[in-house]
Amino acid sequence: MSTPETTLSAAATRTAQHRRYLMCRPEHFTVSYKINPWMEPAKPTDTAKAIAQWQKLYDLYLELGHEVELIEPLAGYPDMVYTANGGFLIDNRAYVPKFYFEQRAGEAPAFAEWFRANGFDTVEPEEVNEGEGDFLLAGDTILAGTGFRSAGDSHREVAEVFGREVVTLTLIDPRFYHLDTALTVLDPVIGAENGGPEKANIAYLPGAFDDASRAILEERFPDAILVSDEDGAVFGLNSASDGYNVIISPRATGFEKQLRERGYNPITVDLSELLLGGGGIKCCTLELRGALSESGAK
Ligand code: ARG
Repeated sequence: MSTPETTLSAAATRTAQHRRYLMCRPEHFTVSYKINPWMEPAKPTDTAKAIAQWQKLYDLYLELGHEVELIEPLAGYPDMVYTANGGFLIDNRAYVPKFYFEQRAGEAPAFAEWFRANGFDTVEPEEVNEGEGDFLLAGDTILAGTGFRSAGDSHREVAEVFGREVVTLTLIDPRFYHLDTALTVLDPVIGAENGGPEKANIAYLPGAFDDASRAILEERFPDAILVSDEDGAVFGLNSASDGYNVIISPRATGFEKQLRERGYNPITVDLSELLLGGGGIKCCTLELRGALSESGAK
């Protein structure tokens, strides 16, 4: 009985928030090495198709009223399209990545240079970390993944850099090697004035986390959307939300329905070609959180 009303009132409270993103056109996209279970260098890739699919995501963000900045793709760095790994930014400060794999190491200085050229302060890391692939801002809290890429010590470092609470979550399934492949923040910037970090809504794939991390998630986010293994396995959680519109894979049909029931507006974009590199929608999207964008000055 309560379902239609719950849905309606939930819908009424969702509002799209303005976002500023950094993306990188996949001009040099291919799979020439294997650093995650999705990558098969022997399998052909279609760069033109990757660009066309990526373009749809880019165009959609603009249609939704978001700002999208672009970083120049570097030849020899086929994974640079996954800009989420290029840093983690809050309040105009960019914590620079230090890639786990040598193949991507050269991307870090390019991202750092872009941040500086665009008015962000950069903090060079001591510890291995892969940016927003493993750090997600949920309300006022940083959810931080480890297990495959970002080192546990980077969690201490990111806490120091931003002076915020950091919650460590351990990933255990090699297919979900970055936090953003297993967890989506749906209402990322609710903030303390609306009741604090517990108010942030998230969705996650329970099986991607160890028992201790699952217990933490259950305790802190009792209302979270629990996504099925089927939807998780098609990278359903590698999604970008503005608080109302949630961009997801068309193959994550169960998750799409769950989002609708909660009053979100799921919009599907197919990045099947980019999935050959082990990345999806969120991987191609880095949020630029800075004082400048919020005042609309830039
Ligand atoms: N091939 C890339 C890697 O293995 C994919 C990165 C995906 N990015 C992400 N934010 N999950 O590093």
